Amino acid sequence: MSDHPRIHHPALRQRIMSADEAAALIPAGANVGMSGFTGSGSPKSVPQALARRIESLNAQGQGFKIGLWTGASTGPELDGALAQVDGIEMRMPYQSDPTCRQRINAGQMQYMDIHLSHVAQFVWFGFMGHLDVAVVEVAGILPDGRLIPSASVGNNKTWLDLADKVILEVNHRQNAGLEGMHDIYYGTDLPPNRRPIPLLRPDDRIGEAYLRCDPNKVIAVVETHAPDRNPAFTPPDANSQRIAGHIIDFLQHEVKAGRMPKDLLPLQSGVGNIANAVLAGLNEGPFENLTAYTEVLQDGMLDMLRSGKLRSASATALSLSPQAAAEFNENIDFYRQRIVLRPQEISNHPEVIRRLGLISMNAMIEADIYGNVNSTHLMGTSIMNGIGGSGDFARNAYLSIFMTPSLAKGGAISCIVPMASHVDHTEHDVQILVTEQGLADLRGHSPSQRADIIIERCAHPDYRDALRDYVARAKRGSTGQHTPHLLDEALGWHRRYVQTGSMQA
Ligand code: COA
Repeated sequence: MSDHPRIHHPALRQRIMSADEAAALIPAGANVGMSGFTGSGSPKSVPQALARRIESLNAQGQGFKIGLWTGASTGPELDGALAQVDGIEMRMPYQSDPTCRQRINAGQMQYMDIHLSHVAQFVWFGFMGHLDVAVVEVAGILPDGRLIPSASVGNNKTWLDLADKVILEVNHRQNAGLEGMHDIYYGTDLPPNRRPIPLLRPDDRIGEAYLRCDPNKVIAVVETHAPDRNPAFTPPDANSQRIAGHIIDFLQHEVKAGRMPKDLLPLQSGVGNIANAVLAGLNEGPFENLTAYTEVLQDGMLDMLRSGKLRSASATALSLSPQAAAEFNENIDFYRQRIVLRPQEISNHPEVIRRLGLISMNAMIEADIYGNVNSTHLMGTSIMNGIGGSGDFARNAYLSIFMTPSLAKGGAISCIVPMASHVDHTEHDVQILVTEQGLADLRGHSPSQRADIIIERCAHPDYRDALRDYVARAKRGSTGQHTPHLLDEALGWHRRYVQTGSMQA
């Protein structure tokens, strides 16, 4: 037993094998559900072994590809390795890998970018086809075959329930103290038999600490010793700090106006450096006794838990820089009392988000003068990452906030444009826009009122005159006056950038 101290199920100990042997059990054309959410909790060695196999088979002209389903983005050992050998036919539901992005935008890989709360249920409904194999990283296997989840939960419950065959990676580098941090809810029945999800407070536990798995489906167990791979965050720059400042002032104003309790409502914070900077601002800010009900727990939330500003945090994944991960591992007993990790169908569930009344803060690529938000597409045609959970939160939150610096590409392009080149969040789902210039509160305003507010508060001064001029001319030339546009011209903003490389040229 001591040779395999984390694998306590006798029959599963008999199925321990190398990553190459396990990868050989995945057939060409299979739909494979892998664990992983950001760089956390993804299998570390089977995907690379599979990539090696695909490379050698494809060199013999076999055209071996799989359908790859995950929780969200993963590390280079998964998305990167498989994309590099052109081994992915269809990717869903989210990626942020440079090689995947390049292949998708070149038309060489199919990508289905969907709301993260939809994934599990769409697979249960049968909308996505059959799930052949699950490859799931775990922190350990109990004597009865239940699994100690890893640093992310994502869609693992669904993959383990629905896949014909299961490959487990037991990662000895994952902290054994993760045991007890998870809450796996098994009550999500299918329509028409669905019942309410009994989660009333962000830190409620409504499920089990372990993932269930039928040992008879497990065809391989692979042992690994590799760390999760999440990049370090850049220290908050001046723009991020200004954005954080505007949001904190606004939240104070909302408390004063009686629209929010003084310990606020549960926070949801999106991915990336700006989101992390806003959390750093909140950690220095006036609010106490906060809670979080979010998708990804980044460094900023860990700091807030440590300082005591944040009482508890619920998420589906940890996404920690190497430095924060080291601190987390040293103090895991402290964090286990304050963090709950859930399946993404619960962390992002519209019913729960609406009930808890979240303050949702997500980054965007651009917004238009009427409040439509583009989170996914550069110049309307090239995918950046995907919608992720931003739509789950934006539509259902108590307050939906989107933020961006007012300028991109060194000032060559405005992130406030006449018409968004792609829309992920419509004007109906966006209440607050924030740039370093200021905050636009769009609640209670018509489209043309919103245009004035967004231009004056959020657009960079270099672009305000051009945007004002567009609105004035649209009001004269547009057939409809509810949302005035000059359709031929609206997207010309983006065309000018594409043609000249500079909006100002
Ligand atoms: N026009 C053209 N390019 C733009 C742009 C614009 N208006 N705004 C940003 N970009 C480019 C940047 O220049 C950068 O490109 P580069 O990598 O070549 O330098 C890239 O887009 C990313 O911009 P950056 O400022 O680094 O943004 P970020 O890391 O804060 O990410 C999103 C912003 C929107 C891409 C990211 O938050 C995202 O993927 N969101 C969708 C998913 C989501 O919200 N998930 C959380 C839900 S829980």
